[in-house]
Amino acid sequence: ANTPLQDRFGRGVEYLRLSVTDRCDFRCVYCMSEDMTFLPRKQILSLEQLYDIASSFVQLGVKKIRLTGGEPLVRNNVMSLVERLGQLEQLEQLHLTTNGAQLDKFAAPLKAAGLTGINISIDSLRADRFKELTRFGELKKVLNGIDAARDAGFQRLKLNAVILKGRNDDEILDLVDFARDKHVDISFIEEMPLGNISEHDRALSFISSEQIRSTIETRYGLTPTTENTGGPSRYYRMADSRSRIGFISPHSHNFCHLCNRVRLTVEGRLLLCLGNEHSVSLKEIVDEHPGDHEKLREAIISAMDLKPERHHFSLDDDEPQIVRFMNTTGG
Ligand code: GTP
Ligand code: 5AD
Ligand code: SF4
Repeated sequence: ANTPLQDRFGRGVEYLRLSVTDRCDFRCVYCMSEDMTFLPRKQILSLEQLYDIASSFVQLGVKKIRLTGGEPLVRNNVMSLVERLGQLEQLEQLHLTTNGAQLDKFAAPLKAAGLTGINISIDSLRADRFKELTRFGELKKVLNGIDAARDAGFQRLKLNAVILKGRNDDEILDLVDFARDKHVDISFIEEMPLGNISEHDRALSFISSEQIRSTIETRYGLTPTTENTGGPSRYYRMADSRSRIGFISPHSHNFCHLCNRVRLTVEGRLLLCLGNEHSVSLKEIVDEHPGDHEKLREAIISAMDLKPERHHFSLDDDEPQIVRFMNTTGG
């Protein structure tokens, strides 16, 4: 790859996932425990620092930034960050992953600020069950959010569904039909073991992408696409539909050899891989040398050597688990 950011395995890094908050107005059962505690303010990066780090990455050839969390839209004043990032000319894509609950209010301003795509999580289309899975979420708000995003003119909308055995695996076909009706893409995600959640047994709820795919194929023929989206989703098309069906299979299909991304946690830890603890603190640098982009760039470049070859996830309780939760990791 022809980019200043390269790891030891020749992979170019052109994609930064930026966690702008660990907080969320939902508590999805696979993501957070019921009594989740959040980081104190002084441990998190200011919006100014997030911008400085993100723009340093762009100077180093990063072409795509995805804002994640937690729920990015609960961060105070997050629009000011989006607006500044939206003006970076070398940045080709500025995307957001959100639970969608506040998009009715935010979709239009996000579009105006230069956001280019939105991924929205939706694990159930039944109000009671949606509430069970998210603990605080209201389905209606998310449905309104999806429509608001479309009405605001976002062309690239994607839905994400984490499928859990016995909880929403009977809705796979409904979710596919919903995506077809809305003309949006949908990805089905295998659950990943991030953070220990005592109320939730990941091994019991695991269901593989293969199982999900064969369920879909009882109704629709799926043709694999060859397009490389630069993401972990493997996409399929259905006849007579614009919607693509993606599968994100960290357990059953390893995509690490194509990995083009790193993550920044809201604590300012640069994580080189979702499934490993290798990281470098950029917060120390922006705290001690505010505005020193040179120092930041040096730290970012040398961090690339720490990017591991691949992730190792296990659903086996005896194996070491990643202790970070998804919300502090940057989905
Ligand atoms: P793209 O920007 O199109 O690649 O979107 P995406 O589907 O990767 O992003 P999104 O934020 O919608 O995340 C969907 C799921 O993919 C989440 O569960 C992420 O944690 C997971 N994911 C994203 N990147 C990686 C990765 O590098 N490794 C693993 N194991 N999972 C990832
Ligand atoms: N495993 C897989 N996906 C997860 N997400 C959150 N936690 C997990 C997990 N443990 C998903 C959310 C959202 C995306 C950013 O990550 O549902 O769609
Ligand atoms: Fe919030 Fe997303 Fe985690 Fe659900 S998966 S609790 S919406 S951060």
